Amino acid sequence: MTRFETDAIHAGQEPDSETGAVVPAIYQTSTYKQDGVGGLRGGYEYSRSGNPTRTALEVNLAALENGKYGFATSSGLAAEDLILRAVLKPGDHIITPIDAYGGSYRLINKVYSPWGVTHTAVDQYDLVALEKSIQPGKTKAIWVETPTNPLLAITDIEAVSKLARAHELIVIVDNTFASPYLQQPLNLGADIVVHSTTKYLGGHSDVIGGGVVTNRPDLAEKIGFLHNAMGPVAGPFDAWLVLRGIKTLGVRMDRHTSNAKAIVEFLKSNNKVEQIFYPGLPEHKGHDIAKRQMRDFGGMISFRVKGGVEKALEICNNVQIFTLAESLGGVESLIEHPGKMTHASVAGSALEVPADLIRLSVGIEHVDDLIEDLDKAI
Ligand SMILES: Cc1ncc(COP(=O)(O)O)c(C=O)c1O
Repeated sequence: MTRFETDAIHAGQEPDSETGAVVPAIYQTSTYKQDGVGGLRGGYEYSRSGNPTRTALEVNLAALENGKYGFATSSGLAAEDLILRAVLKPGDHIITPIDAYGGSYRLINKVYSPWGVTHTAVDQYDLVALEKSIQPGKTKAIWVETPTNPLLAITDIEAVSKLARAHELIVIVDNTFASPYLQQPLNLGADIVVHSTTKYLGGHSDVIGGGVVTNRPDLAEKIGFLHNAMGPVAGPFDAWLVLRGIKTLGVRMDRHTSNAKAIVEFLKSNNKVEQIFYPGLPEHKGHDIAKRQMRDFGGMISFRVKGGVEKALEICNNVQIFTLAESLGGVESLIEHPGKMTHASVAGSALEVPADLIRLSVGIEHVDDLIEDLDKAI
């Protein structure tokens, strides 16, 4: 069995059998010639149902998450929708975190609620509260995001999966912030992993995409059916971009992480910084769990500043090398104000974020330049 970094470069990507091309082709085609009715070549008949470039990515994603079945979608939210439709029906209930990507919560709260799916947001550090929130017969799944966006809270995937198994619930883990290089939820007992491949997997801020991986044939069958029946598929060029990004995932994550650790040290020494959220800090509530279930602590940092929302916005506007933008996980460093940007959709809900919060996606530029930039801006 080969190791992660080797799989990232080779899984699903054997050199082309006819030409020897080392890089998978972009099969920019909607349909495939049949050798007589039903005479499919390699099983391909129409690109919503299957496309060789997408297959390469799906095989690769499954290998990286140590899963059997992978699905590549048109966005992270399309992947989430696919999963939710596969595991829930009207009348069912799902448990969500109290901190999560605003769009994930919006999908459940604003799209699924009107279709009769109920949800409860629970602090997933509190396993007793989590168990109490299970509604027998109604609750079907627990949605986990770890580390969370934007507060970097950690959920114990192994403990939650054990609890879920006792109640026959499905555990879905959004692994976008960690990436499979730093954390593999299926190995810890989760049933389904979901990614916004837009982020670390793509890694270059040039594509929107999503991925789903599972080991369970029953779930794979439902998800596979819906993938074709609903059509939220990754296009061939987008699949190719994500595949290309994945080849360098390991080295990028190592640099994202070492840069982030140095920036955390800088923030600790700055007297305008009120509170830092980073799972690598020993005082972080989830530090011990993160240490156990992650290879390292990743490239995302959030912090609160003294001086409230005005000061937070001022810093976001002052930076020169950090780019003020939504999204994360690319080679370039990004800064954003979750309250007014990525998490504006959760204002007034249980998932509202502090107004003086700033989120950094630490890139792989020279760390001294990044620290100087923050120092001047703060
Ligand atoms: C943790 C997390 N999950 C899911 C998504 C949604 O992904 P996409 O924007 O690719 O639809 C995001 C986007 O920011 C995210 O941060």
